[in-house]
Amino acid sequence: AQSDLAPRPPMGWNSWNHFYQHVTDADVRAAADAMVANGMRDAGYVYVNIDDGWQGTRRPDGTIESNNRFPDMKALADYVHARGLKLGIYSSPGPRTCAKFEGSYGHEAQDAKTYASWGIDYLKYDLCSFGDVLTKAGNGDQSSPAAFAAQRDAYRKMHYALVATGRPIVFSLCQYGMSNVWEWGPKVGGNLWRTTGDISDKYDRMALIGFSQAGLSRFAGPGHWNDPDMLEVGNGGMSLDEYRTHMSLWAILAAPLLAGNDLSQMKPEHLAILENKDVIAIDQDALGKQGDRFSAVGPYEIWTKPLTRNRMAVALFNRAELAHTVEVNLRQLGVPTGATIRDVWTGREMQDSETLNPIVPKHGVVLLLISR
Ligand code: DGJ
Repeated sequence: AQSDLAPRPPMGWNSWNHFYQHVTDADVRAAADAMVANGMRDAGYVYVNIDDGWQGTRRPDGTIESNNRFPDMKALADYVHARGLKLGIYSSPGPRTCAKFEGSYGHEAQDAKTYASWGIDYLKYDLCSFGDVLTKAGNGDQSSPAAFAAQRDAYRKMHYALVATGRPIVFSLCQYGMSNVWEWGPKVGGNLWRTTGDISDKYDRMALIGFSQAGLSRFAGPGHWNDPDMLEVGNGGMSLDEYRTHMSLWAILAAPLLAGNDLSQMKPEHLAILENKDVIAIDQDALGKQGDRFSAVGPYEIWTKPLTRNRMAVALFNRAELAHTVEVNLRQLGVPTGATIRDVWTGREMQDSETLNPIVPKHGVVLLLISR
């Protein structure tokens, strides 16, 4: 397995949440330029990932070509690399992708070679029409043990094809968290695997996905991460408090941080959320331990994440529709008297005391970085 890849949760940008299948070469170059100009690259966002929609048809010898929105993939990779960034691409183990473009079924080795020849650094491999392959093979029940075994084989096949190219290519599994993918994702070479269906730019959907990740922490670690889907920060459908909750929860989850907005048009307040140094450091901490729920009293939840140098992150979430206090007993979390506590969204140091009881806005969060 290419387990030395992705020692930290991958950070970058992906075209899907804003551009969908209409993404163009110009959009990708603009994203790369923006990441350099707005400081995101220097904050750690490295991957520039093209999602569904780049594919054209196959040549007579089977080689995949990009469509006319992507005139020259190699040139695009060179452009991205010249800016100190890496380029990601997307395909499916089925014959068609979810947006009905050409998938890699029957062409796995050939596609992996093509990606490597272009200079691709990351592949998201999305289940999509793989079920059709099984149906044709007489296996109509897509949730049978045999169907899941076939999925595992399909992912492993592409993993081997990527390894055979000799190019380090991060492998991102996208099969929406079926059949406890976190248990077998690493075994088929996955560096990350989606744990849920698709996110959308709405608080309820983001929260449903994010808070459902309780209990999965033990399956993540350096080189293999749970992926609760990409970020929606900046797409406009959530309040700033809600986007801060999104970013805080993803950091506690050691989730990949893949921005999904139009980086060339973003508001400073959204950029500030994506670039908060403490939050990024919580996500990217070298211990590589995913955080988890500590307690929930109705809609008031406390999540914690262990960090290097005897530090920890503590998030106080208010999932209710009204601002409310969220109480935490720091001694119960193993925080000794005199610890240093920073509220990372305000940047303010807080006075240590046995209990903290801050008012947390509706759908908001107070995220604390605690040094013991
Ligand atoms: C489904 C995935 O979950 C999305 O993230 C995106 O890749 C689309 N497919 C593309 O068709």
